[in-house]
Amino acid sequence: MQGALHELFLDELRDLYSAEQQLTKALPKMAKAASHPQLVQAFESHLKETEGHVKRLEDAFTALGEKPDGEKCEAMEGLIKEGSALIDRKGDLPDAVLDAGLIAAAQKVEHYEIASYGTVITWSTLMNHDEVTELLTETIAEEEAADDKLTMLAENGINESAMAGSV
Ligand SMILES: [Fe+2]
Repeated sequence: MQGALHELFLDELRDLYSAEQQLTKALPKMAKAASHPQLVQAFESHLKETEGHVKRLEDAFTALGEKPDGEKCEAMEGLIKEGSALIDRKGDLPDAVLDAGLIAAAQKVEHYEIASYGTVITWSTLMNHDEVTELLTETIAEEEAADDKLTMLAENGINESAMAGSV
């Protein structure tokens, strides 16, 4: 039965590989749409981290003797689509309101990733793929830090500016 869980584990990793790749294309658009300099910087620095996440997943597949391609993450596609719809409203929405919305969209992405990495780390640990567990653990720490940074930006000015700008 471990074989079946191992296959599901690989599927989940391929799903994450697709998700991270999609995100490397979406983050530059989010950075471009954002106004608050620290939010722009947060998106840009998470883009660099995300490129590292893609690389770590490739390293994980190498360690497992498998190929990373073959899955399309439809959940990430949907989350990014919602973010794009928001970006399309740039110019109509006050800058700070758009920033607050971009934070919301980005945090949905981060929480999706944190949930997914949490699962694959648990399974990887269970199946004793130590090298893979280590790679995934490095990534989830960066996802959590990115999520915390977004919360901090929202709570330290952006939400209040958004509220002031919307009345
Ligand atoms: Fe990531």
